[in-house]
Amino acid sequence: MQLITSILEMQQLADKVRNSGNKIGVVPTMGYLHEGHISLIRIAKQNSDFVVTTIFVNPTQFAPNEDFEKYPRDLNRDLAICRAEDVDVVFAPDTSAMYNSDFLTFVNVEKITSILEGKFRPTHFRGVTTVVAKLFNITKPHIAIFGQKDAQQAIVIKKMVKDLNFDINILIGPTIRETDGLAMSSRNVYLNNDERRKATVLYQSLKFAESEIIKGQTNIDTIKSVMEKMILEKQIFTIDYISFNDAETLEEIKIADLNKSILISLAVRTGKVRLIDNIVVKR
Ligand code: PAJ
Repeated sequence: MQLITSILEMQQLADKVRNSGNKIGVVPTMGYLHEGHISLIRIAKQNSDFVVTTIFVNPTQFAPNEDFEKYPRDLNRDLAICRAEDVDVVFAPDTSAMYNSDFLTFVNVEKITSILEGKFRPTHFRGVTTVVAKLFNITKPHIAIFGQKDAQQAIVIKKMVKDLNFDINILIGPTIRETDGLAMSSRNVYLNNDERRKATVLYQSLKFAESEIIKGQTNIDTIKSVMEKMILEKQIFTIDYISFNDAETLEEIKIADLNKSILISLAVRTGKVRLIDNIVVKR
C-alpha cells in the first residue's frame, strides 16, 4: 500500500492505472476509520481493481462554530486499517495543498442542500461538494462509494455527478451499526458513557416509525410526536429535526404512502455532540 500526499503524484498514478485498463474505486473519508468506512472499502474492492481511500478533514464543510479543530484524527491507525483491508493507495493531502491561499472556486448544489442538514449547517454541503469534486479530479475514479449513514450527502453527491457530467458511478453502502443499533460515526468518541447509552434511542425511534408505517399508520405528525417523546424522555437531547421525505427527491412527506420509499431522518444534540441517523422504509 502506498501513502500519497501530493496531488500531482496522485493524478499521475491514477492516469497510469486507467491507462493500464484497470478500474479505480474511491472511498472518500475524513479518517478516524471505523467499520462503516471499512464496509465501503470492501464494496470498492468488490467493484474495482484499484482502491483509493482518501483521508482529509475538509475545513470548508465545517462552520466556524463546529468541530473542525477537535475532529478526531489518527493517520497511523487509519493506515494500519487500510493496509489490513488491502487498499492500494491512501491519499491524504495537507490542507494547504487542497486549499491554496488564493482558492476561489466552490461547487454548490442548490435547493436540496437548504433543507434537513442544510438548514442547520447552511455552508456544509457547499464544502462537501467542493472537496468531493476536487477529490474526483485528483483520484480519477470509475466508481466512488458513499454511505447511507449520510443519506442527504449521498443524494447531493449523486445530483452533482449527474448535473456536472462526472463520468463516475456512485455506489451507496448500507449504514453499519453497533450491536445496540447506534450508527457508527467517528464522532461517537465524543459521547460520555451516559450519552452513549442513551443514544440507542435514536435508532429505536426510527425503527418505531418504520413499524408504524408498515402497520398502516399514515399520519406522520402522530408518528413524529411519539418519536419526539421517546427522545426527549432521555432528558439529554435537543432535537434539530425529525423529518419524513421522499427517499429520492427529498420532498417532504406529510402523509405516509408506501408507493414511494420514505427517508426518515433525524438530528439531535447532546452537550456539544451532534448526531444524525436515518432509515429508509422501502415501498
Ligand atoms: P466521513 O464522515 O469520514 O464519512 C466517509 C464516508 O463513510 C461517507 O460516505 C459516510 O456516509 C460513510 N459512513 C460514515 N459512517 C458510516 C456508517 N456507520 N455506515 C456506513 N457508512 C458510513 O462523509 C464524509 O466523511 C465527508 O463529508 C466526505 C464525503 C469525505 C467529504 O469530506
